[in-house]
Amino acid sequence: MEKLRLKESELARLGKVPRLNLVNSLSGYKSANLIATANSQGVPNLAIFSSVIHLGSDPALLGFMLRPTTVARHTYENIKETRHYTINHIHEDMIEPAHQTSGKYPAGQSEFEATGLTPETWEGQLAPFVAESRIQVGLRFEEEHMLKVNRTRLIVGRILEIRFPQEIQQSDGTLDLEKAKVVTISGADTYSLPATIRRMPYVRL
Ligand SMILES: Cc1cc2nc3c(=O)[nH]c(=O)nc-3n(C[C@H](O)[C@H](O)[C@H](O)COP(=O)(O)O)c2cc1C
Repeated sequence: MEKLRLKESELARLGKVPRLNLVNSLSGYKSANLIATANSQGVPNLAIFSSVIHLGSDPALLGFMLRPTTVARHTYENIKETRHYTINHIHEDMIEPAHQTSGKYPAGQSEFEATGLTPETWEGQLAPFVAESRIQVGLRFEEEHMLKVNRTRLIVGRILEIRFPQEIQQSDGTLDLEKAKVVTISGADTYSLPATIRRMPYVRL
């Protein structure tokens, strides 16, 4: 197959939107999550993030990338206020409301109310879960690292709690994301449902 070749200088000459769309495809399929927080008054906030990554299992850590704080970033502000947040997997039946949470809602307006997703809260809980999500992770903020190159931040959180239906867990501990109908994101607008092709054993040499 003949390949198009684009050098950095040619990328720079593309218009903002085609460059963004092209470059956003390059990191491959990404995880689809809703991060839920609340401010110190308990007003909940919800936003979609496709940059959640595994950082370690002992201690159990997840990271995500936050865009530069040149505009209000309510998820970040709430995490700094309460130190708690939840990461909630998006499944095929919640794509529409999940995607809607990327809108710039004013600080006082809860994306839960705006989208119809349900906050799961109880006495003493600092960040809600998303009730519709089948896989929910509760975290405490650990550290942040700002990248000099573009002022994005890696936010690191320690896993405090995990909730999921027992029937999606396999005998070796793995969660069967296909069974949970968890979706993946490419670019910032394309949702897919992956199909498992095969599982490979740990490589021991
Ligand atoms: C599919 C998709 C993925 C996104 N992933 C991220 C991300 O990884 N990091 C980020 O900072 N913003 C991401 N965003 C943008 C946020 O959802 C958006 O800025 C949102 O308004 C943040 O809400 P907040 O101010 O309540 O935190 C993504 C948007 C979409 C549509």
